[in-house]
Order: sequence, then C-alpha cells, then structure tokens
Amino acid sequence: MITKKIEEAIESLNNNNLVAIPTETVYGLAGNAFNEKAVEKIFALKERPLHNPLIVHIKSYEYLEEVAKDIPKVAIDLAKSFWPGPLTLVLNKKDIVPDIVTAGKDTVAIRVPNHPLTLEVLENLDFPLAAPSANPFSTISPTTTEHVESYFGNNLEVILEGGTCEKGIESTIIGFEDEYPIIYRLGSLSIEEIENRIGKVYTKNKNDVSPAAPGMLSRHYAPKTEMVLIDEPKSKLKYFPNKNVGVLSFKDQLKSLHPDDQEVLSKAGDLNEAAKNLYAAMHRLDSKGFDVILAERFPSAGIGKTINDKLERATKKEEKLESEVELIKDLEKDIIINTVFPGIIP
Ligand code: TXA
Ligand code: MG
Repeated sequence: MITKKIEEAIESLNNNNLVAIPTETVYGLAGNAFNEKAVEKIFALKERPLHNPLIVHIKSYEYLEEVAKDIPKVAIDLAKSFWPGPLTLVLNKKDIVPDIVTAGKDTVAIRVPNHPLTLEVLENLDFPLAAPSANPFSTISPTTTEHVESYFGNNLEVILEGGTCEKGIESTIIGFEDEYPIIYRLGSLSIEEIENRIGKVYTKNKNDVSPAAPGMLSRHYAPKTEMVLIDEPKSKLKYFPNKNVGVLSFKDQLKSLHPDDQEVLSKAGDLNEAAKNLYAAMHRLDSKGFDVILAERFPSAGIGKTINDKLERATKKEEKLESEVELIKDLEKDIIINTVFPGIIP
C-alpha cells in the first residue's frame, strides 16, 4: 500500500518487515540491515541472487564508523563532500554488519540517501537500512511509488510516498584498491564532479568484472521489449519497416513517428532532466507492446556517460535473440552493431 505516513514505515521496519523508501536516486526496498531475517526477505521478494550484496543506508556521515573500518582519507573526503547524496562507498566492514548483507564479502557498500522522508525514518530507527533498488532482479529501477506498486503489489505492505526521484538513476559506487578510488558503477554523481574534488579516478572496465562482483552485470535495467541503442534513431527507422517501433530520444521528437510512440527525455537538452526521466520513460515504452524500442545514444559527457551505460545494459542481448540480430545486420551494416550487441557478433 502506498502511504505518506512515516510512522507506518518506522513501525514496519522495527518489526523487521520491508518498506519501499524514497531516495533521490531510485526507490529502495528497505529492511533492518542488522537483522538477518529482514535481509533474507529483501533477497526473496526481489528474487535477487544471494551473491549480490546490498547497500547499507545510514543516517549521517557521523554514523559511518559504526559499520566500516580502515577508512581511507580519500573516502572521508568524498563522504564529507557528497553525503547526503548519490555516492556509495565500498569500505571494509565491521562485524556488526551480517554476512548476508555483504554476500560474505569483507567489504560493505554504504551511503547516506538525500531524501527528507527517508532521513527522518533513519533518524527514528536504531539500525541502518539495507536497501537495493525496489524492483525485481535485473528489471528497470523504480522512480515513482506506482512503479514499485506495479512490481510488488500486495506483497509489500508499506510503500512510502516521496514523489518522483530527483536524480532518477542509481548512486555512483566507488571502491578502494590499495587506497586508490575506483568507480565500480557509473551513477547519478558524474565522474567529472568526483574528479573535481579528488583528482583522477579509474573506472573498472565492465569486461574485467565478474558478474558476482559490483553490480556490473552486463544485462540489467532491462525492459521486456527488445531495445536497440543507436546514434540517430531518425535515419534508422526505415530499417524496421514491418515492426511496431517505439523511440526513446534525448531532445528531438521525430516527425515521422506518432508522438505516442516516442519519449523525449529533455526537450531543453538538459542531461540531468533526461536522467530524471529515463526510467519512467522506459517503463512507459515497455508497457506499450512495441516489437522494438530504438534508444538514442547520448553525448558522452557528465551524466550522459551514465545514461549510455544504463542503456547499453538495457540493450544487451541474450543468445536467443541472435536471429534478430542477424536480420538487422542484413538490413543495414552501418548500424554500429558491435556496440549495440556487444559480445554477440565478433
Ligand atoms: O541509488 C542507489 O544506490 C539505490 C538506492 C536505493 O540507494 N540502491 C541500489 O542498490 O541501486 P542495488 O542493490 O540495486 O545496487 C547495489 C549495487 C549492487 O550491484 C552490488 O553488487 C553493489 O552495489 N555492492 C553492494 N555491496 C558491495 C560490495 N561490498 N562490494 C562491491 N559492490 C557492492
Ligand atoms: Mg538495482
């Protein structure tokens, strides 16, 4: 049930039940991070593999040392600069954090979310909240309570109404290897903002990372409808003559397609606005029964890099779609097929 009453959220969490909480990035599926039974419920409801660890949400920077140890100086600098906000730090964990939260790892992912309601909930609890995004494993993340309700319906008693998420894309995750910061997941906090603060950071190459590690599963955030990522949807429409096509674009509406069949993420060409609208637009397009969704590649700067990363994961193909890949390949060689379908076509 969607509710605005934070007392209901607090009571449920104190009873080790789950609550969907608003954050500035996406809605989270939260439970008592110090209670194994509550955390088990998160994995079960989300159908998430137990080897994929959760983020622990704390109420403030001051609480950090309750859950983490051996904190590098640069991590302290980052936390002080960007919390509350869309930055998750992966640090050595203290014993108080149950193994189920970290999937048996010695590290724990931590952030302070920037949403007034959730911060108020955290203030009223004497434990932090483990919370993955409030969507079934590998589906599109939720940025409204309606998205959460459509996924979990009556299986989730309390969905705390906090409006549309301000940022719209998950937090940026940074880990430390020999005290050097490494970006594990691109997110709402841009690389440029981070580098302005602490200098050059490295990004873990997607292909280097095993699926069990840092949320870098190649197929993720995926709509049920097939989605293709291309540089310019307008000039590619003709290659799908017998298909019912939907289009997701940055700022320009296509005249050759009915307005109902397309989503423009920011008419003003503002990348932050586009990020905020991205998942809701994907949810809408996915519900319209298209044969294929053509998504436009974004400019590769600032949050545009993050948007492209999410779109690439949403368009990553599974083996069974290979026949369609071949079909498109026959139709037009200049669709940059190797970036659209990485790993399938040599
Ligand atoms: O914005 C967000 O980060 C949202 C909101 C709700 O806070 N949460 C979120 O959680 O996106 P989730 O579970 O969907 O993604 C968390 C990612 C996972 O991909 C997981 O692999 C990674 O964080 N992670 C968690 N603990 C880790 C650890 N100890 N080491 C490396 N990666 C970790
Ligand atoms: Mg997620």
